[in-house]
Amino acid sequence: MYVCLCVGATTHTVSECVARGASTSKEVAAACGAGADCGRCRRTLRAIIAASADREAGREAELQPAASH
Ligand code: FES
Repeated sequence: MYVCLCVGATTHTVSECVARGASTSKEVAAACGAGADCGRCRRTLRAIIAASADREAGREAELQPAASH
């Protein structure tokens, strides 16, 4: 699905930027151009970044050993 029509960036493109370390819409714009033009897609970019951060947090929680009581 297209996220940024100005540069034709898809959800996949943006997710790859986030996976490579972009953690703000500015960093995504620097990495692939999405969000660097009209800015209408920035809210969606932030949602993709937040969803990715949530997935990372979930993965880390799974890797943590259960606290012993
Ligand atoms: S739609 Fe992304 S910068 Fe315009």
